[in-house]
Amino acid sequence: MSRFLSKSNRNLKAYVPGEQPKVKNLVKLNTNESPFPPAPGVAEAVKQAADSLQLYNDLSAAKLTGLLAKTYGVRDNQVFVGNGSDEVLAFAFQAFGGGGLAFPDITYGCYPVWTSLYHLDAKIVPLKDDFSIDPADYRGNDRCVVIANPNAPTGMALPLSAIAQIAESNPDQVLIVDEAYVDFGAESAVKLLPSHENILVVQTFSKSRQMAGARLGFAMGSEELIADMNLIRYSFHPYNANTLTQAAGAAALEQPEYFEACRQTIMENRAWTKAELEKLGFRVLESKANFLFVQAPGMTGGEYQKKLREKNILIRYFDQPRIRDFTRITIGSKGQMEKLIEATKEIWA
Ligand SMILES: Cc1ncc(COP(=O)(O)O)c(C=O)c1O
Repeated sequence: MSRFLSKSNRNLKAYVPGEQPKVKNLVKLNTNESPFPPAPGVAEAVKQAADSLQLYNDLSAAKLTGLLAKTYGVRDNQVFVGNGSDEVLAFAFQAFGGGGLAFPDITYGCYPVWTSLYHLDAKIVPLKDDFSIDPADYRGNDRCVVIANPNAPTGMALPLSAIAQIAESNPDQVLIVDEAYVDFGAESAVKLLPSHENILVVQTFSKSRQMAGARLGFAMGSEELIADMNLIRYSFHPYNANTLTQAAGAAALEQPEYFEACRQTIMENRAWTKAELEKLGFRVLESKANFLFVQAPGMTGGEYQKKLREKNILIRYFDQPRIRDFTRITIGSKGQMEKLIEATKEIWA
């Protein structure tokens, strides 16, 4: 830290992303990426879009926004796009979190970082002993609530009735529903938008649309909430969704069959991996995400992670109260999951 860093940032504890090593033959199951390439047509769309890179990108992201609106059954002015859902969520924290935010103790690690970065008050609400979220814990919260649904790193999902309950019990606050993993078996709160003016749904192309490196996230909500999001965006970085990413996103949305096939495969591989791990004595939480949160028998999460690392398999461990016995395993291709199970059997042999 230099002596020039603003005083207000000196206690900041930045988010620590999962490792991204460039090692050959690594089975990489640590950052919830897709094992599959982007949809056919994405590379060609990016190549064509590159011809106009001398110009600024379309501020309205018209083509992409129109396709998202059509895909999710909302109007164009109910869609906001950004540089990954991290940016979209951070804008939402700034737009709606002035009176503080509430979120679970075990959830996406960026939430406490953003509250600290933007000097917003954070109310941490413990998950129940079984790692579930109790909507009653958020009743009458006098602040914005953010819920990852499915939650990370547990993978557990709330039904829409519980999301509606949280929104309805805080009618004067925004409920941000972070649906980074919703396409792997949970229900999207987009359905609740017509009846709940205080819900903002945030999704990403990083997981189910195999485009983590393109950095594309989006939000959907009432026209007024989206206008608020644009107020923050135009006060910070209006050109946040670049030309190449807009083109890639639009091309991906034009291939719904590919999206469907990829997410179905991930869900099948998840079911297979869960069953195999359970046969080996693991506790595996019920996941609706592209990862499993697992407790290895007679070993801490850190130990299991280390042993797999020695066998060139990367998974994620969180050195954090309540979850030190657990690790998070991204669901990859069937071949990758077979390697994980083989290696795990060797560890316990
Ligand atoms: C719950 C959750 N929300 C949001 C994100 C951010 O994703 P991205 O910025 O790639 O869209 C992640 C990334 O892993 C996540 O786990």
